[in-house]
Amino acid sequence: MTILITGGRGKIARAVRAGLVSSGREVRVASREPDLLGTIALDSASGSSWSAALKDISQVFLYSDPLTAALFVEAAEAAGVKQVVLLSSMSSQAGHEDAAAGSALGGRAVDPHSGVERVILGGAFASTRLQPGTFMTNAIYWSYQIRATGQIRLPYLEAEEAPIHEQDIADVAIRVLLDGPGAEHDGRGYPMTGPESMTRRRQIDLITELTGVPIEQVELTPAEAREEMAATMRNPAQLESLMSYWASRVGTPHPIEHTVELLTGHAGRTFEQWLKDNPTVF
Ligand SMILES: NC(=O)c1ccc[n+]([C@@H]2O[C@H](COP(=O)([O-])OP(=O)(O)OC[C@H]3O[C@@H](n4cnc5c(N)ncnc54)[C@H](OP(=O)(O)O)[C@@H]3O)[C@@H](O)[C@H]2O)c1
Repeated sequence: MTILITGGRGKIARAVRAGLVSSGREVRVASREPDLLGTIALDSASGSSWSAALKDISQVFLYSDPLTAALFVEAAEAAGVKQVVLLSSMSSQAGHEDAAAGSALGGRAVDPHSGVERVILGGAFASTRLQPGTFMTNAIYWSYQIRATGQIRLPYLEAEEAPIHEQDIADVAIRVLLDGPGAEHDGRGYPMTGPESMTRRRQIDLITELTGVPIEQVELTPAEAREEMAATMRNPAQLESLMSYWASRVGTPHPIEHTVELLTGHAGRTFEQWLKDNPTVF
């Protein structure tokens, strides 16, 4: 049976596709803007678009979308989908705590990923939630600033993160999909990090050390960051969730999750490895 992969343009979706194809599985890749050969168009706000994408599909690798998750579940149940692997976020765990404490009613936004997780968990299929922390691919956004200005402008440069390589997230998704529904992954949430904790300042220093590109690091105040980042982040609740996450991580090494090693049998890839794997970014 065929596996549907949504978010087709994304780096994780591309790596999941490559891994499943090389394992001999049939895949159908969907994207809001299909620019790869063999990728189908998906309008995730349309029930009929979901029905067409899900025809004869048994398993799904799903990008998270709070606006359309319920529509997806309805269409997936109607199509007889047996397993969904959701690309969620580590931020969902704080969201679940907020919801349990009723803080959404007190004015603080609940993380959108936790809402999507609850909707997917309620579906009549096996599901597994991948909960990665910071992606190494975020450095790609930094590269745009560097090319334009020679600077990286960020809040909380001393915040500790344990960024994760997109191939490691994909490797875990592939493992769960190849094991299929009925394995030990059903109903599980898998927090995931890279193998080492380091400050954002250290990550930027490493970019200079490995690429030779000089970078001026400009630390923004939280107010400046809110103003500059609001232009590029599609979800204000996600921005607030990120700001409080970074604030909480200043001076505190990030806990390391061993999910990648436990599920794939290989160590998580380092940020230095990511820079070597992406030599043209900077
Ligand atoms: N960046 C991080 O540090 C981080 C950490 C943890 C979790 N996450 C989560 O991982 C996901 C991807 O993050 P990213 O930083 O790679 O984001 P991105 O660059 O904004 O998105 C790239 C991919 O996400 C898909 N996508 C974007 N918006 C979508 C939507 N509204 N509905 C369905 N698919 C959507 C795109 O699919 P199309 O091909 O259809 O356009 C594309 O494949 C997000 O849900 C994000 O919250 C990110």
